[in-house]
Amino acid sequence: MAASVWRRVQAAAGRQLRLPRPHSRSAGGSVGAAPVADGSEEPDIPNKATAKTFSALQAERHEQAERTILISCPPNVTEKKFYNYLASYGPINKYFFYETFGIYALVEFSGKESIEAVQRASTIPGLQHECAVPFKSRFFNLRNNHLGSQAAIHPSVLRLKQSVISLNELLQNISGAASIDEQLYMVLEEMQLTEENTRLRFLVCSLIKEIAAAYFPECSIRPFGSTVNNFGKMGCDLDMFLDLDGISGRNKTKPGGAFSVEYQTKRVASERVATQSILSVIGECIDQFAPGCTGMQKILNARCPLVRFSHQPSGFQCDLTANNRIAMRSTELLYIYSTLDPRVRALVFGIRCWARVQGITSSVPGAWITNFSLTMMVLFLLQRRNPPIIPTLDQLKAQAEKDVHIIESHDCTFASDYKMKSSQNTETLEDLLQEFFEFYGSFAFNKMSINIRKGKEQNKPEPSPLHIQNPFEQALNVSKNVNQTQLDRFVRAARESAWILQQEGLKHPKANPWGFSALLLPNSQTSMGKSKKRRRQPASERIKNLLDSLKANKQSTDNLSRPNGHQKSIPIVR
Ligand code: GTP
Ligand code: MG
Repeated sequence: MAASVWRRVQAAAGRQLRLPRPHSRSAGGSVGAAPVADGSEEPDIPNKATAKTFSALQAERHEQAERTILISCPPNVTEKKFYNYLASYGPINKYFFYETFGIYALVEFSGKESIEAVQRASTIPGLQHECAVPFKSRFFNLRNNHLGSQAAIHPSVLRLKQSVISLNELLQNISGAASIDEQLYMVLEEMQLTEENTRLRFLVCSLIKEIAAAYFPECSIRPFGSTVNNFGKMGCDLDMFLDLDGISGRNKTKPGGAFSVEYQTKRVASERVATQSILSVIGECIDQFAPGCTGMQKILNARCPLVRFSHQPSGFQCDLTANNRIAMRSTELLYIYSTLDPRVRALVFGIRCWARVQGITSSVPGAWITNFSLTMMVLFLLQRRNPPIIPTLDQLKAQAEKDVHIIESHDCTFASDYKMKSSQNTETLEDLLQEFFEFYGSFAFNKMSINIRKGKEQNKPEPSPLHIQNPFEQALNVSKNVNQTQLDRFVRAARESAWILQQEGLKHPKANPWGFSALLLPNSQTSMGKSKKRRRQPASERIKNLLDSLKANKQSTDNLSRPNGHQKSIPIVR
């Protein structure tokens, strides 16, 4: 394996190396190579030793986003001229170019005053047949005033890709690994959100905040879910919530004295109605005023009302909710788990990738298992190992001391800065992958519920096919949407994958495909994340193909096979 790839794998595993993010998926790429001293410290992807608390990391990224602008560039932009022009407004910390529908640059200035200077110098475009809505955001067009002199020049900037890696490319990249563990760390490295993509996500939140702030100046727009829980892969949606807590004065103590004043307000029937009305208005404003935001859908009657839209310059599908503090807490919980042991993220990414390729998860809502549920299943398995790899939620709560969090009468308490001694568990990722498939291939889903609070399965309180207790709203099931057909499909795929992993001949890099790649066989022609038509082969057909490839590889792998490799008796469902 190339040394550079191995360095990245080690970084993903141990996070001791902080490598520049433009890596194999970057079509070249120029990041923040600001000729000025780079005073900005990149918010690190956390590891156990150096991880910042979730709230510290969020605050840092929000502040950074407020000093950042997004610029649509002309096709013949040159990096040097671009830099010199922008730097005339103030010192630049970081910048990078990327391409979606055109070339864009994200520029982080050292101070907000530089943005004000850009805004003062910018004009509202005069259009011939249309009229521009004069909303002044931090999203600009860079105009080339000397078209003639540069017309022949091709773009000289290197652009970072913001797209999802294709399955073929992923399979090719991991085929050079030396072990299944290495394959899984490479999957993580290839699929995780890049530093630049994360910056872009916080910038979009910051732009949406400017719209909402017209009505609620003290609000914030906070990303949650996989954008910030450390389990996000490139192409995942951008979940945001409008946080009005700073306005409500919910946590304010009432002053003493003879009088006090309060705001006169409109009154509505419930908090839900207020949320629906606020989201409806903000959604309307985003739709009408926010540059780049299109396809607004108001989904206000859902259990959690939301507005959904696309932000075209970034390519993100955005879901904006309000009043969603419990989801924020579960995001932080997942973030903490992700930092406790490097195997957590690698296994979650591996399982999510496998599930996507097997058609177990989908980008469209439905009766499928969600990524959130899958993550809970992996966490549960890691709590159940002996010795455990991660603590239970009750153990995290016991360490919380004064950090008590009760939200809408639900106990959401856990230690935000949990320090865990390194786990005594030395299992490899290969072991854990096998265990995942065997554990869930024979789990008593008909009777038992998965409970990460206790780290133990419990009797199911209701008859949904799959029951995963919501860690905070404990009466709820996070996988209530899953039907029996989808659960059966998951179990079948898990059993089949357990069987594949047991085949000695498929464990060695000389086989083709081998190891984790052998689990990603179906849909090899489709691009992950976008596969609409799934050409799934029946299980028996896939196994047959693998057996054929095993036979073909037998000669070369015979010498490598461990003698008498024991095989556990997981039945293959055909
Ligand atoms: P992807 O978007 O699929 O990458 O993962 P995600 O974790 O962002 O999932 P999703 O966008 O579906 O949901 C965003 C967040 O909402 C999750 O991370 C959870 O914190 C929360 N969430 C999602 N589904 C549920 C649920 O059924 N119950 C609860 N309590 N929270 C949920
Ligand atoms: Mg999401």
